[in-house]
Amino acid sequence: MPKRASALATPNIAVVKYWGKRDEDLILPCNSSLSFTMDETLKTITEVEFAPGISETTLVLDGKKITGKEFEGVRKVFSCLRQKYGISENAKITSKNYFPTAAGMASSASGYAALAVAINGALELGLSGRDLSILARLGSGSACRSVYGGFVEWKKGEMQDGSDSFAVQIADESHWPALRNVIAIVDAEKKKVSSRAGMRETVKTSGLFKERMKGMDKTVRDMKAAVMQRDFESFANLTMQDSDSMHAVMADTKPPIVYLNETSRRIIAEVGKLNRNAKAPICTYTFDAGPNAHIYTLERNVRDVEKMLSGIAGINRTLVCKVGSGPRIIG
Ligand code: PMV
Repeated sequence: MPKRASALATPNIAVVKYWGKRDEDLILPCNSSLSFTMDETLKTITEVEFAPGISETTLVLDGKKITGKEFEGVRKVFSCLRQKYGISENAKITSKNYFPTAAGMASSASGYAALAVAINGALELGLSGRDLSILARLGSGSACRSVYGGFVEWKKGEMQDGSDSFAVQIADESHWPALRNVIAIVDAEKKKVSSRAGMRETVKTSGLFKERMKGMDKTVRDMKAAVMQRDFESFANLTMQDSDSMHAVMADTKPPIVYLNETSRRIIAEVGKLNRNAKAPICTYTFDAGPNAHIYTLERNVRDVEKMLSGIAGINRTLVCKVGSGPRIIG
């Protein structure tokens, strides 16, 4: 009898960023990070089927068979299944991203979270959130945060085997109902440096990275306090500072890594102007390893943010996301 399940998961957008690993193979980060999981405006649906006749594990993503380096994450997830849970069966994995075409948005977080949840459903493993998070982490670091909805912390952990490096939910999606992420999808060529390669070079070559690491525990503490108190002003300032800090260490990497483009920089300037005119931060930007802007704001200010963005050249389209409830089995 084949065992199968389908799971839906959504991306998360960090406000305290993860950039830099202390263990490349197990994907263990140098610092803890914090994110919000998004609603189903963007989503990945993954079906997993285990059956005795399947001779090797395969992944078809958006209709294309994935092999080589891009398959590495799946290989790690299945090697953990074998070693930790004694599962030796192969699986047929079919995954589809429901992201607007040419969005240039990273889908690995929702992808590996959906994979972990689908495996757990198909095999009825009854994994805890912690074990699901560790399984997703082996596919892609940021995916370990997408196994929960709401506001999530990835605890970096100390152990060499990675058993204490997993995500926990700090508050669920109902904690700050007015919070929105206005995503500005910026015209871009294909990402030049993968986050995996970029992080490796930053850890190896950036002196500024060591300085960034010294302040991370405090940044995480302050951000948690700001979000728990729904203190938008502190939240906004910390979010911009941490995004700027991550992009500064990217720029300090030898050779420099630059993910932001002219449009991203224009957005940074216009967010500053909007906040100065409002005499307090009403919106805040954060950028991942690409030029798209994630502008967190409150519902009452979404219109002003969209108006500001409409005056900037080079933006393909905008999307407005709420904080979501996390992954679920859908079949
Ligand atoms: O998606 P990953 O695991 O390769 O990591 C990317 C990390 C950033 O998106 C740049 C920041 C973060 O914390 O999500």
